[in-house]
This record gives sequence, structure tokens and C-alpha cells, in this order.
Amino acid sequence: MAATLSTLAYLVAAVLFILALRGLSHPETSRRGNLFGMVGMAIAILATLLRPGMATGGIGLIVLALAIGGGIGAYIATRIQMTALPQLVAAFHSLVGMAAVFVAAAAFYAPESFGIGHAGDIHGGSLVEMSLGLAIGAITFSGSVIAFAKLQALMSGAPITFKGQHWLNLGLGILLLVLVVAFVASGSAALFWAIAILSFALGFLLIIPIGGADMPVVVSMLNSYSGWAAAGIGFTLGNLLLIVTGALVGASGAILSYIMCKGMNRSIINVLLGGFGTDTSAAGAVAGAGGDRGPVKAGSPEDAAYIMKNAAKIIVVPGYGMAVAQAQQVLREMGDLLKKEGAQVEYAIHPVAGRMPGHMNVLLAEANVPYDDVKELEEINPEFAEADVAYVIGANDVTNPAAKTDKASPIYGMPILDVERAKTVFFVKRGMSSGYAGVDNELFFRPNTMMLFGDAKKVTQEIVQALQK
Ligand code: TAP
Repeated sequence: MAATLSTLAYLVAAVLFILALRGLSHPETSRRGNLFGMVGMAIAILATLLRPGMATGGIGLIVLALAIGGGIGAYIATRIQMTALPQLVAAFHSLVGMAAVFVAAAAFYAPESFGIGHAGDIHGGSLVEMSLGLAIGAITFSGSVIAFAKLQALMSGAPITFKGQHWLNLGLGILLLVLVVAFVASGSAALFWAIAILSFALGFLLIIPIGGADMPVVVSMLNSYSGWAAAGIGFTLGNLLLIVTGALVGASGAILSYIMCKGMNRSIINVLLGGFGTDTSAAGAVAGAGGDRGPVKAGSPEDAAYIMKNAAKIIVVPGYGMAVAQAQQVLREMGDLLKKEGAQVEYAIHPVAGRMPGHMNVLLAEANVPYDDVKELEEINPEFAEADVAYVIGANDVTNPAAKTDKASPIYGMPILDVERAKTVFFVKRGMSSGYAGVDNELFFRPNTMMLFGDAKKVTQEIVQALQK
């Protein structure tokens, strides 16, 4: 009876996790999605605690671990800056990877507790599952640590490449497969640890050639790996919910990586082989910024307010700088004032604006920007030609026409927002620096561009004040 109840509870939790993912796919339903996820997790934990055969001491230990881990997690989550979320996610994934390694080791040394055989005589199928969980977990751990270090600037974000790197990785990958086969055949402890060490090394080697600009894709891919590692461990533990949850995380992480790659018009193979950002022509272009292109036209917030007051259609293009400045609230105030003046105000979202998927949507939703005013790239691009003003706030790469014209540019092929088609383009940024991809943006020098130099929040606040006069 208890076993049936526990299976039923797991089923309900699994359905709630699926509903959570579905809810999270749209800003309007994302809060509900989160709630589904939380309820699902609470049910899953309760059902695990009440599972038949769970020793009372075990329950105490689980509750203690939950209190410590949950406490640390809650503390970090309330303090973390939105812009630092990618590295936080990377750090958390490293823990999932390490957990998979620990569970594999526990199952290997105490197989009786897991019902998978006896020491020295573990079922063949369990050895396969264990070694997969171990290998993927270890790769996820060291890969995520490197991703964290790069995103947190603890190490250089530049790709670390050397001759024969891909061949070395391929060779080590094949060696790993050989070790797994030998381990499954022999059940040897030495081979277990050899798989662990080789996988840690492989995770490290696979991520170091990938540049900082591609790290968010890597984080999402490691997220996918951590899901597969959890699913592998689910098989070892004979835990259906862990298998389902792991597969959900694995599949959604893989889909997210694909969406991001599509947003940058890169293939996942191109991202994984790394080296992005080492392009010397791009570095040259940055060095040449402002040099031979003539002066840029800089304006004041009052100038911008005057022009926008007389505009009929304004498209706001938010980017990473808006997130850094936390300018979303004042941006909405500006939009409201302009609407009162009779203008149509829309917000254009590029799929990889900011530093993580949905970054801009979340910030605009936080500031209560109406969902109907927020438009995706394909929908808004034809509208720029009819716009009087494109107000580009802290965005750069996502507007750069080099993506369409310069085959040598590292962002070549990335779809961009066609802001230059608007009658006037304002770029709100602090100086002339390039964006994440390190590429110069020639739009700054166009005759219909006016630079509004300064912090995104401060400049927009001054525009709001000027509009209120
Ligand atoms: P970026 O091209 O990175 O440009 C952001 C601009 O914001 C910078 O040029 C910077 O110029 C400005 N800025 C920084 N702090 C500011 C502040 N306080 N006030 C005003 N401006 C500020 O951003 P984007 O256009 O959003 O493009 C995103 C980039 O990240 C793309 O290259 C994309 O491929 C990459 N990326 C994103 C994702 C996801 S999922 N979003 C994933 C992978 C890669 P100043 O220093 O001159 O102010």
C-alpha cells in the first residue's frame, strides 16, 4: 500500500515538473510554472521520506541535509545579482555532477543497500548505469567549475587552445569508453576511479577552449549533462522520479542550448569546438573603434526627450547594459510618459540579448511592462522602418550590422534587430566599448545615430525628468 502511494506521489510530482517547464516557457505563466515546480519537489521529498524501508536515522540525515543545503541555497538566491545568475547556475550544476559521482561511489562500495548485488558481484546492468552516471557527473563537475571561473572572471574568459586539442579530446573520449567497457566486464575498483579521474580531466579539457561569450550556451549544455547524470543515477537507485526528472532536465537543457545557438546562428558543434573570440580581425576592429570612422554624434537626455516627445512610434531595444544598470523600472516610466504623449511604444527582444535566455523578458516583466508591448525579433524587425526612434539601451551586439555584412566577424550570421532603419537611433551606453563578442559596432558612426553617453538608469531618469517638464 505504502509503495503504491509513493509511486502515485512520484507520478503526481513528475506531472507537476512537466507543467512547471510548460509554465516557464512564457513570462505570463512563469510564476505559476515555478509554483508547480516547488509543489512537485515538496511532494517528491515527502514521498521519498515516507518510502517503505526508509530508516528513521536516514530521515533525520535527509532533513539535516535539506536544512543545510536549503538554507545556503535560499541565502545565496536572495543575495545574487540578476547578472550573476549564469555563474550561479554553473556552480549549482557542479554540485549536481559531484552528487552523481558520490552516489555512484556509494552504490559501488555498498551495493547491498541499493539492492544491486554484493561487493565484487554487482549486476552488469547496474555497473553500466553507475559508470555512465559517474562519467557524466564528473565531466559536469569539472566543466561547470571552469564555466563558473570564466563567468566570475576568476580566470580569463579567453579561449585556451593548443595544437592537437580536439584530437586529444577525441582520444581521451575513446579511452573513456574503453575504460567503461572494461569496468563493466571486471567490476574493478581501480577502473572505477580511473573513469572518475579521466572524466574530471575531460570536463576540464572540453570547456577551457570555449570563450566567455559562449559560456551561457555551455552552462545550458552542462545543465543538460547534469540532467542525464541524474537520470543515470535514477536507474542505479531504481528511482523512477529521478529518471523522469533527470530526463526532463537533460532534454530541456539540450533544447535551450539549441535555441541559444540558433539565436547566434552558430552550430552547437561550432560552440563546442571552441575558439570563439580569438578572431584577430575582430580584435583589430575593436582597436579601430572611433579611429578612422570619424566622430560620433553625442546628445543629451534633453535632446532625446525632445525628439521622443515628437515621435509617433518608438521601439525600445534593451540589452545587457540595461540589466547591469537595473534601468527597467525607469524605462517603463519613460514608456508610460511617451504613451501619454500619444506615441506607440514597443519593446524589441533579441533571443540572446543580455546574458541568459529570457533575461530581458524577466526584467521587463519585473517592471510591469505590458506583455503585449514586448515583441520578438521576427515580429518587430519589419517595424523599425516605420519607427521614428529606436531607443537602444545597453544593447550592442544584437544590433550590429556586421553580423549581416562582415564575413570575418565572429558574430557573422547572427540575426540582429534592424535598429538602423529607424529615423533616429539612440544608443544609451557609458562609452565606446564593444559588447560581449568584442566587436566594434559601426552604427555608432551613422548620421541617424545619436549616442547618449552615461549609465542606462541615470540617462533614462534624466529623460523622464525632461519629459515631465
Ligand atoms: P552586449 O553586446 O554585451 O552590449 C552591452 C553593452 O552595454 C556594452 O556595449 C556596454 O557598453 C553597455 N553597458 C554596460 N553597462 C552599462 C550601463 N551600466 N549603462 C549603460 N550601458 C551599459 O549586449 P547585448 O546587445 O545584450 O548582446 C548580448 C551578447 O551576449 C551577445 O553577443 C550574445 O551573443 C551574448 N550571449 C548572450 C546569451 C544569452 S542567452 N542572452 C548567450 C550567449 C551569449 P559600455 O561599456 O560602453 O557602457
